Amino acid sequence: MPFIEMHDVGKSFGAREVLAGVNFSMEEGEFVSIVGASASGKTTLLKIVSGLLEPGCGQVTMAGESVTGFSSQAAIVFQNYSLLPWLSALENVRLAVEAAFPSYSRARQDEHSERYLKMVGLGGALARRPSQLSGGMRQRVAIARAFAVEPRVMFLDEPFGALDALTRATLQQELARMCSEAGRPVTALMITNNVDEAILLSDRILTLSRGPSASLSPAVPIDLPRPRATDLLFHDEQAVRIRGRLAGFLAAGSRPRFGAPTNAAFSRGVSKSNVPVEA
Ligand SMILES: Nc1ncnc2c1ncn2[C@@H]1O[C@H](COP(=O)(O)OP(=O)(O)O)[C@@H](O)[C@H]1O
Ligand SMILES: [Mg+2]
Repeated sequence: MPFIEMHDVGKSFGAREVLAGVNFSMEEGEFVSIVGASASGKTTLLKIVSGLLEPGCGQVTMAGESVTGFSSQAAIVFQNYSLLPWLSALENVRLAVEAAFPSYSRARQDEHSERYLKMVGLGGALARRPSQLSGGMRQRVAIARAFAVEPRVMFLDEPFGALDALTRATLQQELARMCSEAGRPVTALMITNNVDEAILLSDRILTLSRGPSASLSPAVPIDLPRPRATDLLFHDEQAVRIRGRLAGFLAAGSRPRFGAPTNAAFSRGVSKSNVPVEA
């Protein structure tokens, strides 16, 4: 039985049908990404699968049980940090650690939180508040916090979407490193508007068609060896082919649906896929 499953999920806001017929499944230990254009319904989908939002129709299950709210075994990272501004980096992480490991002593919670902040290179910024941190550093805190609770599954909603390109590339590599050093397979579902980011991090990628009534493409497996460097995207034959294929799915989804993407859409996509998929 898959770890997470969505069966025929739909969601409308008023008369606007955002998602229709969404089917999805992933196994524990997989890193799966969903790529889609702005406003296609990615956040809505992630909120539904993580239990933050009820689907209009269809079912969502995690570990065989119906999802009815945000699981205590999950962690989520949003695009916009979601740190508490009046707490330091350490306190922000400790708050989550305290909830996840209530039996730990205060000293152990601090030590645990500090360890994860050090892993993201913030050992020297423990006492700083979010306003005293750069955007990239704030997002590092959010990632440290997500790993620190040692969740069974991590949900990531465009975690690097608000960052400049260089910081984004650095954090992509850090996230990949955190996953490989976690000591166990990390289960993660990431939403992104960037095909390359998805290829660098994922075991499988799906695309969400442009709304309204968006649905998911079949998954594309990414069998590239890790660690994956950015130049792989341009020089590795498989990576180049996958970029083209994903861009093809996205391009096909941007028009009224004629069925499967055409070969023309596939080849057109290759040169387009290095830019974020914006509407
Ligand atoms: N709570 C809401 N009420 C009404 N419309 C919403 C709500 N949340 C999202 N939408 C609409 O649903 C569509 C998809 O939104 P969203 O899931 O945030 O897209 P994405 O994350 O892909 O940019 C957008 O048109 C958005 O305006
Ligand atoms: Mg979104």
